[in-house]
Amino acid sequence: KFTDRVLWLFSTPLAPTSSANAIMVKVVTCTAPVNIAVIKYWGKRNAALILPTNDSLSVTLSQDILHSKTTIAASPDFSHDRLWLNGKEEDITKNKRMHNCFRETRALRKQLEDSSAEPLEPLSTYPVHVCSENNFPTAAGLASSASGLAALVFTLARLFDLPTSTSDLSRIARQGSGSACRSLFGGFVAWEMGSRDDGADSLAVQVAPETHWPELQALICVVDDAKKGTSSTEGMQNTVATSPLLQHRIRDVVPERMRDMKKAILDRDFQTFAEITMRDSNQFHAVCLDTFPPIFYLNDVSRAIIRLIHEYNATSPDGRLKAAYTYDAGPNAVIYAPKQNMKEIIHLITRYFPGADFVDPYNFFPEGEVVGSNLPH
Ligand code: DP6
Repeated sequence: KFTDRVLWLFSTPLAPTSSANAIMVKVVTCTAPVNIAVIKYWGKRNAALILPTNDSLSVTLSQDILHSKTTIAASPDFSHDRLWLNGKEEDITKNKRMHNCFRETRALRKQLEDSSAEPLEPLSTYPVHVCSENNFPTAAGLASSASGLAALVFTLARLFDLPTSTSDLSRIARQGSGSACRSLFGGFVAWEMGSRDDGADSLAVQVAPETHWPELQALICVVDDAKKGTSSTEGMQNTVATSPLLQHRIRDVVPERMRDMKKAILDRDFQTFAEITMRDSNQFHAVCLDTFPPIFYLNDVSRAIIRLIHEYNATSPDGRLKAAYTYDAGPNAVIYAPKQNMKEIIHLITRYFPGADFVDPYNFFPEGEVVGSNLPH
């Protein structure tokens, strides 16, 4: 779900002799959500176009809790494109990925301007000012690049009034950050790697909307909110160059997992969903270990959470899985589980990790029930 606001601002200074110096600015604000992959993207076959070595599949999390919010202003009076990230101006002169997104959306706007019967504002020629903020720690392994670049592309599309489909926009967002293409859709989303060299068929498609499986929920365990050591971009290229296990994963493992995972989602089959999610996270981290030199994203707390979830699943009376963990390029755990198990899982985690602060935006626990050290939110 995206919210947007479109404003045309005409701020007119006092005109000394003529009325020709009005400043025209168009401003749009949108938000985009975070997605957490259950079948991981790790490896590019073309680093410039961001074309992956395998398909991937993710779940988009509610924007109420985690989102990137981006405001973009366009004006002929701006001198150049500029970016402010979480309140601080960033130098984007060498930021190729951002320029890819500007170039692609401006080209579509130009087509619109050229083909329109009515004269359109030549927005494709105006410099833009981009202001973006996350309501969660950037680069803490919580996919801030995915929501950030998805918000950038979606806001540009709204600013330029592009009639482009969401999948076509995902192709542009992919060139900003691979995983960003999946954040343009809600619910369950596949990124089809495609086979073309120009990337025209490497885009995101929705497998099912968020309303399809409302009982499924995510618990985010922030183990460490510091910036990670090895970036995804750098890490995955080292894996492509050195890991034989990655080749096995690409060829023999992911295609079957994609088929089984899509079916599990459509059938709301938590058993299969959970098993593939945990196996895929484990194989992704095994591939990191198989990289030379190895990449370590998990720490002792991450591994303790893995053990805890397996022990919890072992207590299930009918042998059915009750929860699944997954980890991206960092130590933070995301636990997927049916809503009815969430209270138990939160109690378990806060008992085993007594210092944990629990943020309860959906009021899982009635007033007065102490869980962890209940942070106000
Ligand atoms: C582990 O999308 O951040 O989160 O395309 O280089 O920007 P770039 O990488 P990025 O990689 C995400 C990797 C992952 C797995 C996933 O989200 O599928």
